[in-house]
Amino acid sequence: MAKLDNVQNYVTNDLTTYREELFGDMQPIQFKGVDSRGNEIAEARFQLPSLDWYDGKKISGLIGGAKPSNYSGSPKLWNSFFQEVGIDGAYMCFDFPSEKREDFPRFLEELLNVQGILDISVTDPYKSDAYEYLSSVRNRDVEFSAAAKALGVVNHIIYDDDKNKIYGLMTDGAGMIWGINTQRSIRDKRVFLLGAGGAASAIAYELIQGGVSSLHIANRRVENAQRLKNKLNSDRVSISGLEDTIGFIRSSDILIYAIEPTIELKGIEDAKEDSLFVDVRYGEKEKFAKLGMSLAHKGLDGKMMLYGQYNIAARKVAEIEKANISDVDDALNKIRKSFLK
Ligand SMILES: NC(=O)c1ccc[n+]([C@@H]2O[C@H](COP(=O)([O-])OP(=O)(O)OC[C@H]3O[C@@H](n4cnc5c(N)ncnc54)[C@H](OP(=O)(O)O)[C@@H]3O)[C@@H](O)[C@H]2O)c1
Repeated sequence: MAKLDNVQNYVTNDLTTYREELFGDMQPIQFKGVDSRGNEIAEARFQLPSLDWYDGKKISGLIGGAKPSNYSGSPKLWNSFFQEVGIDGAYMCFDFPSEKREDFPRFLEELLNVQGILDISVTDPYKSDAYEYLSSVRNRDVEFSAAAKALGVVNHIIYDDDKNKIYGLMTDGAGMIWGINTQRSIRDKRVFLLGAGGAASAIAYELIQGGVSSLHIANRRVENAQRLKNKLNSDRVSISGLEDTIGFIRSSDILIYAIEPTIELKGIEDAKEDSLFVDVRYGEKEKFAKLGMSLAHKGLDGKMMLYGQYNIAARKVAEIEKANISDVDDALNKIRKSFLK
C-alpha cells in the first residue's frame, strides 16, 4: 500500500500543516504563503511532526485547485466528527495545481491507494475529472449516486476497504435540498432557479427528483440552460435568459440564487408573499437571502447547503466505519449547532 509521501509530491501545500490546532501534539509555526487570489499570508499555523504521524489512521481530505488549505473549514468539521464518534482519523487539504491537470488521474490513483483512505471531497475544478477517473477504475467496484451519474460529476469519493468498493457521490444538490427541507417541503412547489453552472445543475437535478411542480431556469447564456434542460429531461422544466423572468419570479414559491456575482433581478420586489429566498453563497456574499428577508420573505444561505452536504457524507462514512448511530446523531447535532450559529 502506498503512503502519503507519494501524494505529497503532487500537491503544493505541506500535508503536515493545519490552520488550527486539531491534535494535542501539534507545534505552532509561523506560516508564510499566498492565497488563491495571490495575496500574501503570514499567520500562525500548526505542524504535525511528520507524515508518519498519519500511519494507521483513517485518512480523508479535500482536493481543490484554489488552495483549500488556506480557506477550507472542512478539516475542522471532519476532525471534530472523527473525534466525537471515535474514528481514529485525520482530514487534510490537497492543493492540487490546475496547471498540472493532466496529472490529476495519476494523483487520484495514488491517493486512493494510500493505506486507510476513507473520504475524499472534490471541489472546483476537478469534479468532472474525478467522475472520469472513477469511470475508468476496473480493480474496484465503483458505485455512483444517481445525481453523479446523471450529471457526470463527483464531489465525494468514499472508500469501503472491507468491500473494496468506492462510492462516487454528488452531494451539492442533495445538500441544498436538505437545507430547504429545514424550512419547507419542495414537493409540488414552483421553483425559480438562477444559474445553470455546476451548483445550479446539481440543485436542479434534485428538485426534479424531489417532485417540484415546475422549475424555471434563468441563465445569462440560454444555451447553457438548454444543455441543463436536456440533461434533466423533464417536461416540468422551462428556461430563459435573464430578461422576461418577472412572471416566473412572481409565481414561484422558492427562488434560488445559484451564481457567484450579484446581479439585479427585475421584478424581485414583487415575489409571491412568504416565498423562500435561497442563496448558494454564504458569509458576506449571501446578498440574495438577505434581500429576501429585507422584503419580509424567508431567507436561507449557502451555509445550510454546505452543512447539508457534510451531513450526508459524514453519515455514509459513519456507516462504513460502523460507528454507533446515536453517537453519530449526537456528534452531528453538536457540530451543526456550532457551525450554523
Ligand atoms: N454552499 C455550497 O455548498 C456551494 C457548493 C457549490 C457551489 N457554491 C457556490 O455556487 C456559486 C456558483 O458556483 P458554480 O460552481 O455553479 O459555478 P459555475 O459552474 O462556474 O457556474 C457559473 C454560473 O454563473 C453564471 N454567471 C457567471 N457570471 C455571471 C454574470 N456576470 N452574470 C450572470 N450570470 C453569471 C454562469 O452563467 P453562464 O452559463 O451564462 O456563464 C453560470 O450559470 C459560487 O458562488 C459557489 O461558491 C456553493
